[in-house]
Amino acid sequence: MASQAPVVQTKDLTIRFGGNVAVNAVNLTVESFTLKAIIGPNGAGKTTLFNLLSGQYKPTSGSIMFKGREVTDLGAADRTRLGVGRSFQLTNIFPSLSVLENVRLALQSKARVGMVFWRNYRSYSELEDRAYELLRQVLMEKRWAVEAKTLTHGEQRKLEIAILLALDPELLLLDEPTAGMSLEEVPAILELIQQIKAARNRTIMLVEHKFDMIMTVSDSIAVLKEGRLICDDSPEAVACNSEVLEAYLGGGVKNG
Ligand SMILES: Nc1ncnc2c1ncn2[C@@H]1O[C@H](COP(=O)(O)OP(=O)(O)OP(=O)(O)O)[C@@H](O)[C@H]1O
Ligand SMILES: [Mg+2]
Repeated sequence: MASQAPVVQTKDLTIRFGGNVAVNAVNLTVESFTLKAIIGPNGAGKTTLFNLLSGQYKPTSGSIMFKGREVTDLGAADRTRLGVGRSFQLTNIFPSLSVLENVRLALQSKARVGMVFWRNYRSYSELEDRAYELLRQVLMEKRWAVEAKTLTHGEQRKLEIAILLALDPELLLLDEPTAGMSLEEVPAILELIQQIKAARNRTIMLVEHKFDMIMTVSDSIAVLKEGRLICDDSPEAVACNSEVLEAYLGGGVKNG
């Protein structure tokens, strides 16, 4: 098989906010169809790294390649079009619409961008069927008819993932998908992530504080500390790296 360009490759990626270097000379490579976890203490730069990858922030210096193509100067919309998918907490949920309508709208917006609508959906009901299928995937199908604003926090996170999947990105950036969920809801999200991974047609970057979850699903784990990438290795190697343990355990990690 011909070797593919990595899905993500950053070179000396750096962003400063005043005197604070939130992401500092990060060289990170993420291979196709793998799951890369990003861990590190609070304030380490994980979310900022995602904002850089999705085009929300422009780096101070350094570069970002997506599938071998330089995207450093592209905006967020262009990156979405290329297949970078970022879930934003609540901002792409329409509160007064039903759960199903929220997913259907995401499917339609993807269709408009990619012109796949007419190819893939012959009718409105087919679109609804697909939306329902996505809701089933995130274990939300029983809640299809309720207004999105009535969902619990954990349910809203699941809806966000369904919306993200509807947009069909090649790279999924999941920033603490289980944050705010009750403990009973977490295994379903873990299973969903494993399902997505098993399909081997998407690349996932996952920020999570739940260390056991990270150890279970990751192909590799990158560790950020004060904006710097201090380690990027297999879960086994990361788990016994003393610098990582010190940074992670000593850095005031949120309970989870
Ligand atoms: N828009 C911004 N303006 C100023 N400083 C920012 C901005 N965005 C992030 N930062 C700073 O960058 C640093 C990294 O923040 P970031 O949110 O990326 O951390 P994190 O690793 O996601 O932490 P957490 O685990 O708490 O989510 C912090 O010092 C933060 O205050
Ligand atoms: Mg964060």
